[in-house]
Amino acid sequence: MYINVAVLTETRAHERRVALVPSVAQKLIKLGARLHMQPGAGAAIHLDDAAFENVAFIADRTALVKDADVVLAVQPPALDVVSAMKEGAILVSFIYAHHEPALVKRLLEKKITCFAMERVPRITRAQAMDALSSQSALAGYYAVQLGSTHLARVVPKVTGAAGSIGPARVLVMGLGVAGLEAIATAHRLGAIVEGYDVRPETREQALSLGATFVDTGVDARGKGGYARELHADEKIKVAAVLTKHIQSADLIITTAAIPGKASPKLISHTQVLGMKAGAVIVDLSAEGGGNCDDTRPGETAQIGQITIVAPLNVPSLLGEDASELYAKNQYSLLALMMKDNVIEIDWSDEVLARTVLTHAGENKAEADGKTMKVATPPASAPAVAPTQA
Ligand code: NAI
Repeated sequence: MYINVAVLTETRAHERRVALVPSVAQKLIKLGARLHMQPGAGAAIHLDDAAFENVAFIADRTALVKDADVVLAVQPPALDVVSAMKEGAILVSFIYAHHEPALVKRLLEKKITCFAMERVPRITRAQAMDALSSQSALAGYYAVQLGSTHLARVVPKVTGAAGSIGPARVLVMGLGVAGLEAIATAHRLGAIVEGYDVRPETREQALSLGATFVDTGVDARGKGGYARELHADEKIKVAAVLTKHIQSADLIITTAAIPGKASPKLISHTQVLGMKAGAVIVDLSAEGGGNCDDTRPGETAQIGQITIVAPLNVPSLLGEDASELYAKNQYSLLALMMKDNVIEIDWSDEVLARTVLTHAGENKAEADGKTMKVATPPASAPAVAPTQA
C-alpha cells in the first residue's frame, strides 16, 4: 500500500512557486507517499527535475492526477484537473472559494475533499501549517527591500569623511504578519521605524521589534484576531493623527486588510500630495484594491514626486523560499492525515475540520458561513519586481 500523490505545475500567469521541494518530497515518501510531478514543475525557482529523487514524472496533467489520492498545488487548479481527479480524492491548495465558483462546483460534483490553505485556523497548534503567515512574512521582508530600491537615499545612518546621512524614516501601516516582518526588516536595515494598527495589542509587538507605535486612540478589534472596518468618525480621527507621520516618512509599507472586505484606505490622495518629495509607498494590499487612494494594483505609479509600488503575488517574487515554506506547511497538514501508508482523516481534529472546504459533496464554507481571508483572488496580473518598476 502507498498513497499516490500528484504535484501540479503552476500555470497561472507570473506564479513561480511549486508545491513540493526535494527535502519535503523525502519526508512525504516516509509517510507512505508515492510521488508524481509534471516535468519542469520547479523550473521557475531553478529546481531541476533531477533534484527530486524517487519522484516519477508525467507530463500530461490529467494523466498525472487521474490515479492520485492526493493532489498538491499552490494556486487553485484548472477545471480539467479537478474533472480528471478520482471521485473522493484529496486536493490541498490555496482556493479562495468566493472567487472560484466554477471550481468549487466541480469539487462538489467530484466529491473531492479539498483542504484550502487559506482556511488553516490562526491558532498556535496550526502554526506549522499556516501558509498565509509563511507567505505574508516573506512579503513583509520583500516590501522593505523593494521600497528601498525606489528610494534615492540610503536607509541606515551612514557616516563618512564627508559627514553623516540618514537614517530613513519608515512607517509600517497594518501590523499583522507582513507588517511585523516589515518592521523587523526595516529596523535591521537601520531605519527609524514607526508602526500603526487599529488593534491595540500590536503596540507591544511593534515596540518589541524596535519600532515606535503611532497611537490614534481608535480600537477596531474584530473577530478572530482580525480588524473590523472603521466607522466614518473613526476614520476622521485616525487621519488627523496619521497625516504628520505619513508626511514625515521616507518609505511607507502598507499591509492593512479586513477579512472578506476590500482593503481599507489608509492614505488619501491629499495625504500623498503632502508627502516628502522622493518618498515611496509599497502597498502590499494591492490584491484587495490597495491601502492608498492612488494605488494601481500590479503597477508602479508616480503621483507628483511620490512613487507608489503595488506588487501582486509578492511571495511568488521570492519563489524559492516561498515554495520551501509552503511545501513544509502542506507537509505538516498532510502529516495529520497520512500515517503508515494510508490516509485517515480524523474530523474531530480542529485543524482538519476548519481547513476543509469541500467534502463528500458538501461546501463547508457555506456550512460554517466563514468569510474568506482575502478580498481578491491571488494575482494573475504581473507582479512588480524591482527591475520592472
Ligand atoms: P491581515 O492580513 O488580516 O491584516 C493585516 C493587518 O491590517 C492586521 O494587523 C489588521 O489589524 C490591520 N488593519 C486592518 N484594518 C486596518 C486599518 N484601518 N488601519 C490599520 N491597520 C489595519 O492580518 P494577518 O497577518 O493575516 O493576521 C491576522 C491575525 O491573525 C493577527 O491578529 C495575527 O496576530 C493573527 N495570527 C495568529 C497566529 C497564531 O498562531 N496564533 C498566526 C498568524 C496570525
